[in-house]
Amino acid sequence: MPGVFDDAHRAQTEAATFLRAHLHPDPAPLAGGQGGAGDGGAVGLADFAELARAVLPAPVWDYVAGGSGAETTLAANRRALDRVGVLPRMLRGVHTPSTAARLLGASHALPVAVAPMAYQRLLHPDGELALAAAAGAAGVPYVASTLSSEPIERIAGAGGEVWFQLYWLRDRGLVADLLDRAHAAGCTALTVTVDVPVLGRRLRDLRNGFALPPDVHAANLPAGRDDLAHHGTPGVSAVAAHTHEVFAPALTWADLEWLRARTPLPLVVKGVLDPRDAVLAADAGADAVVVSNHGGRQLDGAPPAAAALPEVVDAVGDRCEVLLDSGIRSGTDVLRALALGAHGVLVGRPLLFALAVGGRAGADTALALLAAELTDALTLAGCADPAAARDLRTVPVD
Ligand code: FNR
Ligand code: LAC
Repeated sequence: MPGVFDDAHRAQTEAATFLRAHLHPDPAPLAGGQGGAGDGGAVGLADFAELARAVLPAPVWDYVAGGSGAETTLAANRRALDRVGVLPRMLRGVHTPSTAARLLGASHALPVAVAPMAYQRLLHPDGELALAAAAGAAGVPYVASTLSSEPIERIAGAGGEVWFQLYWLRDRGLVADLLDRAHAAGCTALTVTVDVPVLGRRLRDLRNGFALPPDVHAANLPAGRDDLAHHGTPGVSAVAAHTHEVFAPALTWADLEWLRARTPLPLVVKGVLDPRDAVLAADAGADAVVVSNHGGRQLDGAPPAAAALPEVVDAVGDRCEVLLDSGIRSGTDVLRALALGAHGVLVGRPLLFALAVGGRAGADTALALLAAELTDALTLAGCADPAAARDLRTVPVD
């Protein structure tokens, strides 16, 4: 459907130009949670969703914002986080907390990494390069998807600390090449995503016959290996058909052990919910697990990641780090995740929406707003830093 996309992209470009023209010409220093250049009027990380919806072609909005099936898991992710009441501590003499945190043995400005997300040039022509550069400037790791629309070498060149996310391909030779390329490009960790034997049934994409526009490619794959992703067919998601063609469908824990032995990089296993799987990941030598339901995009009916987190934290103890994603929309949510025992979080969609609204400047602003929100949350909870927040208690809120 190139025609639809051409029109939609033209509308997107015009809307984005309008928004940029109305941004503050002189970015005010961020203070008290105020935005700056690239904010489009956003005063919080979560504000970028509606701003992006106004500028994105509807099929792209649906691909990014949507979930699988009846989207019960997608909705439950938010509800579960909203139900986490954090008991703040008083009179602890904290007025300017540090947001710095260690993840995988390295120090970062926030206990946050940018979640791996496919095809970021769908959102903005600068795609991965803009979001990786913003993450680097903000001092947080950027996780580059196997399905990036820029090659890993360019992303690693644009960003600060970049972790590579592996989707296990049917062709093990290609997997080995990707591992070598990521290592040679300077990636500092390897994330393997284990919750996508096939893509979840995304009904919005089926209704839209969603396909990649001609100028967005799976840039890490050999030329032509993404043809199927461009084939718009009514009732079919071309992105799902393509992943079905190239992803290895029946991996086992033995494959994870192969991977552990194959890469010297710290290994992150993304997409576990059952504590037994977290223990198996730790047994296989994972340095971290990400408790995640892929933002409600895989098994509809899976529990919210925040609900699964405490049991995983108990099960792995200090054998590996535990990160959380799926539904994080604010600094308050980061505090909630820490209070539930996570070492840090991955943030997904809000950063894609910021990229859509303002490119690099939008992503810069989004990460600055998240830092301001977390600073406020830590101060109000009486925590000198994110590590202290892991001692906070929580109560369920109805
Ligand atoms: C994703 N996610 C994802 N995960 C992954 O391991 N590799 C990938 O290529 C992608 N691609 C992708 C595309 C888009 C558009 C979205 C929204 C998500 C999942 C992602 O890493 C993360 O788990 C969720 O996005 C977290 O949920 P929130 O923060 O978006 O609610
Ligand atoms: C997605 C994939 C590609 O969630 O991970 O769309």
